[in-house]
Amino acid sequence: KAQNLALTPPMGWNSWNTFGTDINEQLVKDIADAFVKLGLKDAGYEYIVLDDGWMAMERDDNYNLVPHPDKFPNGMKEVVDYVHSKGLKFGIYNCAGATTCAGYPGSRGFEYIDAKLYAEWGVDFLKYDWCDTENLNAKGAYQTMRDALQASGRPILFSICEWGDNEPWKWGEEMGHMWRVTGDIINCWDCTVGHGTWASLGVWPIIKLRKDIRKYSGPGHWNDFDMMEVGNGMTPAEDRVHFAMWAMLASPLIMGNDLRSASDETIKTLTNKEVIAINQDALGIQAYCHTNEGDMEVWAKPLANGEWAIAFINMGQKPLQLDFDWAWHPVKDDLSGREMSVNTIEYTIRDAYAHKDRGTTKVNLKGEIGAHDIMLLRLTPKKE
Ligand code: DGJ
Repeated sequence: KAQNLALTPPMGWNSWNTFGTDINEQLVKDIADAFVKLGLKDAGYEYIVLDDGWMAMERDDNYNLVPHPDKFPNGMKEVVDYVHSKGLKFGIYNCAGATTCAGYPGSRGFEYIDAKLYAEWGVDFLKYDWCDTENLNAKGAYQTMRDALQASGRPILFSICEWGDNEPWKWGEEMGHMWRVTGDIINCWDCTVGHGTWASLGVWPIIKLRKDIRKYSGPGHWNDFDMMEVGNGMTPAEDRVHFAMWAMLASPLIMGNDLRSASDETIKTLTNKEVIAINQDALGIQAYCHTNEGDMEVWAKPLANGEWAIAFINMGQKPLQLDFDWAWHPVKDDLSGREMSVNTIEYTIRDAYAHKDRGTTKVNLKGEIGAHDIMLLRLTPKKE
């Protein structure tokens, strides 16, 4: 696979959660403009990814894929060039099967032809789905596309979209830069919506299902908790928790909302640089669940230079009074062996959403957390 890509979790936007197959040239250009205008580019968002539905139903006489003529009347290169002209990167979608999930032509049997075409267009990112793949070996199918991308000569970030049945975390590092860990996300806090043989999962069902595959994730190869639903209907507090948890879990931060009509509050959450810095930390260690007692969940993420990110989440519907004695609740990550030594080191405490300092670990941490809200902290060893 292409090296030196995704050394921190990829950040960007994907069309699927809001637009489905209803995508077109103007939408991409508007999103690229919004990246610049709303400060998303400055905050670190980089990839604009077109998901399923960009193609015509038939390949051309040379077996090349054809952009849908009504949606992309000027071809795909025009769109890619526009995105590049804003200093951003462009991503596209296809599928390991003979057809995509929405029934468009898939890449099976055409992997090298498709990779070459993407490289010619200047594509920087490929999301590769898993529909219509009966009897296909998953690892083998992703390996074929990885090799085709490699042969194209262009460094293309490879985003594996296998939903967990074939445990992509076990072979994903070798094949790509990120891999989905569940079926599709849905914009709710704790719901699960069944569709017969598969289910869509809300924010917490996704987290709970995959909190234990931490060790597979790291620089260049990430557990992908799916495109975000921030701005798509949850409360502002729930959106803050969702965003913070994707940051804590070192998941790619791929927005999934309509940036053209996003509220100021949504943009404020998505561009919070203190939260993003936790996600983009150089160590790239996925957070672990420290405790869950009653309505309170505590999550911890070791950061570079001995710092820590700690999240206190109120899972309940009533405000929660926090009174947390650091010395009584040792923070230790068994995976990395890192621990906070509050008895020998004093840590200063910074609240990433309130943008204010909250004293040090010498005294109990106090405060109120609203319903389905979060206190997200960054702890820094105090210099003598
Ligand atoms: C299934 C994937 O999980 C979704 O993210 C999206 O890419 C759709 N397929 C597109 O059909």
